[in-house]
Amino acid sequence: ASDVATDKVSVSVVKGDSVTFHTNATMNQQERFKWYFTKDLIARIGGDLNNICTDVKCNNDTERFRDRLKLDHLSGDLIITNISTSDKGDYRLQTFSSKHIGKTFTLDVNDAPAEIKRKTVMEGESVTLDAPKVRNLSDSVTWIFNGTRIAEISGELTKICEDVQCKKRFRHRLKLDNQTGSLLITNTKSTDHGLYQLLTKSRRNHYSTTSIKSFTVSVTRNVKKNDSGLSSGFVAGVCVVAVVLLVIAAVVAGVIYYCQRRYRKGQEIPRNRRGSRQDLI
Ligand SMILES: *[C@@H]1O[C@H](CO)[C@@H](O)[C@H](O)[C@H]1NC(C)=O
Ligand SMILES: *[C@@H]1O[C@H](CO)[C@@H](O)[C@H](O)[C@H]1NC(C)=O
Repeated sequence: ASDVATDKVSVSVVKGDSVTFHTNATMNQQERFKWYFTKDLIARIGGDLNNICTDVKCNNDTERFRDRLKLDHLSGDLIITNISTSDKGDYRLQTFSSKHIGKTFTLDVNDAPAEIKRKTVMEGESVTLDAPKVRNLSDSVTWIFNGTRIAEISGELTKICEDVQCKKRFRHRLKLDNQTGSLLITNTKSTDHGLYQLLTKSRRNHYSTTSIKSFTVSVTRNVKKNDSGLSSGFVAGVCVVAVVLLVIAAVVAGVIYYCQRRYRKGQEIPRNRRGSRQDLI
């Protein structure tokens, strides 16, 4: 066991992040990997790919990592997604091959509340969605709007709106700060309303992390700038007033007509009576 290389790696993440522990090994047919969390076997790759287990299957049906644990079949890397505070602790890798490797990853989980930042902007104005910290040059930053990728920085490379739909929606209105990864949306439109997510992937020697920060953006309509100069509410109000005035006018006209008829009748009747009396005389 003289060629056993033991590494200790400390990893610090925030609740909700994802982490990948790298084995730094390339798999061959003979290689076998086992991952332990404290004393429990949580993932295993045997000599062939049929002999793989992760999560509840190799951990006596315990629910701890249900659907949050993955094993990269090519590298043996262990991936934990949506990390919770109960994931704190030691993860131990053992390989059984020509060269034995033992590695322990100590995971610390910072229990920061996963907050969603809310931004409200007047239509036509600009809004900045701030990345939390200055970007490490090796970090890749991805912005996602309502589930689709809109912008990305990887190394020195910046990509904005690679697909047609994004180009149509945000045409020349997105700017990325390549120092921080912050996103600027200029000349906002009501269709910009929705959920924006910043994914930061950091690769270190022995592990990688992915963190997510969420923003909701609301775009309020500027009533004065509306196409016709009149808001629909104002137009509706004017219509209601017009109808009420028409009804009042109709009622008044009806009353006047009725009164005039009554008045004329009142004048005619005596005349008729007088007439009839004259007839009688
Ligand atoms: C984005 O999501 C929000 C909230 O679900 C929705 O109201 C909005 O219409 C969506 N926008 C687009 C362009 O899909
Ligand atoms: C990964 O393995 C290679 C060769 O096996 C070694 O030279 C290198 O230092 C290792 N890297 C890390 C981060 O352990």
